[in-house]
Amino acid sequence: MKIRPAKVGDVPTISELIRTFAERKLMIRRSLGELYESIREFVVAVDDDGSVVGCAALHVFWEDLAELKCLAVAESMQGRGVGKLLVDACWDAAREMDLDTVFTLTYVPGFFEKCGYRQIDKAELPHKIWNECVRCPLFPNCHETALIRTAEPAEELVREAFAAASAAR
Ligand SMILES: CC(C)(COP(=O)(O)OP(=O)(O)OC[C@H]1O[C@@H](n2cnc3c(N)ncnc32)[C@H](O)[C@@H]1OP(=O)(O)O)[C@@H](O)C(=O)NCCC(=O)NCCS
Repeated sequence: MKIRPAKVGDVPTISELIRTFAERKLMIRRSLGELYESIREFVVAVDDDGSVVGCAALHVFWEDLAELKCLAVAESMQGRGVGKLLVDACWDAAREMDLDTVFTLTYVPGFFEKCGYRQIDKAELPHKIWNECVRCPLFPNCHETALIRTAEPAEELVREAFAAASAAR
């Protein structure tokens, strides 16, 4: 299993993955236009045959905040660690950009807790994030749980040590 940045040619598969779960009200539906416009936010999981079997996106909101969204793993590939690989890849992408907080709104909080996220009160999130929620058919009666992951001070120290070591080389 490989995680890589999405390509425009992946959009139809990403769209189909999201549609499957959006029909069951587990995710928000995304139009093809939205997916093409935001394709640079996506990573995909690709199996040994080269098929896209999962996707996730990292949307930057502000200098210190990004959202992990559009996470989906094909039903036949669930339970094999693919979801966690995608969530970890989004976290790494956030850290690469010096972002130290990522949040998500989800119906599967237990899964995100396994990936290092912790639950928070939705009211703690900035108002700016509700722009998208207002467009959701479930607004305002959505029962999604908010979770965040923040960089630990120890992680920060390790990063700084690596950066110093690289600079010294
Ligand atoms: C949620 C989803 C992405 C998980 O992907 P996955 O590839 O099956 O998950 P993983 O195999 O990587 O699981 C990682 C860990 O989380 C646990 N886990 C998986 N789904 C879980 C759930 N729904 N609730 C609690 N824990 C869960 C696994 O048991 C595993 O634990 P372990 O490390 O102790 O073995 C996938 O089920 C999915 O696409 N669901 C439908 C769409 C959806 O709900 N997306 C989220 C919208 S924000």
